Amino acid sequence: MTRVFNFSAGPAMLPETVLTRARDEMLDWHGSGMSIMEVSHRGKLFLSVAEKAEQDLRDLLNIPDDYDVLFMQGGATLLFSLIPMNFAAGKVAQYIQTGSWSKKSIAAAGKLCSVEVVADSSGTGYDRAPAQDSWDTVPDSAYLHYCMNETIHGVEFPFVPQGMDCPLITDCSSTILSRPMPVNEFGLIYAGAQKNIGPAGLTLVIVRKDLLELCPDSIPDVLNLSKVAASDSMLNTPPTYSWYLAGLVFEWLKEQGGLEEMERRNRRKAQRLYAAIDGSDFYKNPVQLDSRSLMNIPFILADSSLDAEFVRQAEEAGLSGLKGHRSVGGMRASIYNAMPEAGIEALVSFMAEFERNSA
Ligand SMILES: Cc1ncc(COP(=O)(O)O)c(C=O)c1O
Repeated sequence: MTRVFNFSAGPAMLPETVLTRARDEMLDWHGSGMSIMEVSHRGKLFLSVAEKAEQDLRDLLNIPDDYDVLFMQGGATLLFSLIPMNFAAGKVAQYIQTGSWSKKSIAAAGKLCSVEVVADSSGTGYDRAPAQDSWDTVPDSAYLHYCMNETIHGVEFPFVPQGMDCPLITDCSSTILSRPMPVNEFGLIYAGAQKNIGPAGLTLVIVRKDLLELCPDSIPDVLNLSKVAASDSMLNTPPTYSWYLAGLVFEWLKEQGGLEEMERRNRRKAQRLYAAIDGSDFYKNPVQLDSRSLMNIPFILADSSLDAEFVRQAEEAGLSGLKGHRSVGGMRASIYNAMPEAGIEALVSFMAEFERNSA
């Protein structure tokens, strides 16, 4: 068996020990004679998995008791609509536009509430997280939404907005669990699972309980975050296997030393790759230094006619998923928690060799 280093933005690489454990537990989960994916979501067996996963996540992120954790479906994309539906009907919501994902969230919200884009970095090619003192905020809004890490453009907010007079909501899909974060400074945090949490099919929502009182009764129950919370995310059948696997990832993260340790590793990995890019005229990262993502590192080749050859040779060298998003081109290395430092070393060596051979 040969496993490659997978730099895909998501679904992304999972820790090998998690996959091995899932394989070992596949046919007979803890002596039950069944796979965990075969058991009722309302039975004792699955409930023990669900509760442990939630507790481990709470421990990792230090989630206060006045927050609910929801294990949902529909992806981060569904949250783009659920957030305005639940919290902003008939009101104004503020949005920061820093790339493709926040742009999509703005389009979705625009169908459901009045949207005020208070900062927008499209004019500079989505190359930065706009400083808070440049935002044109409005009073009396339902919330302020931003995407903490733009997966396609490789732009990450280096700060948490301060002093807002409304709840702060963030799309954390590609940065959650990569480092500690002050959950208590947010009204709602959400993330699709398929990057740093587990397999696709699961969407995580962390929401301050008092906000759930605002969810209108008129919306369908499965879209109503208050009803989902009241049912412990079991209003209908949840994605049980993804939930179980996310739980294994949370256990793995705790064994590794938690999010402080992940941050140390992730900073080392990102610095190594940015240094290789910055140290050469052959590669370039277009993002402003203070807004560079730790998780998604786009880079362009000085000669874009070499792009296809770069990707082909990289695949041959066991480095998969490096082609940039179709909307921006170039390359992108997504280096989530499960990417080992050896993967970065292999990529950096390959890049140097490709540059030498192309001279
Ligand atoms: C930052 C961000 N938000 C939202 C999404 C959409 O997520 P989903 O496919 O889970 O709906 C993605 C997907 O890659 C993303 O990276």
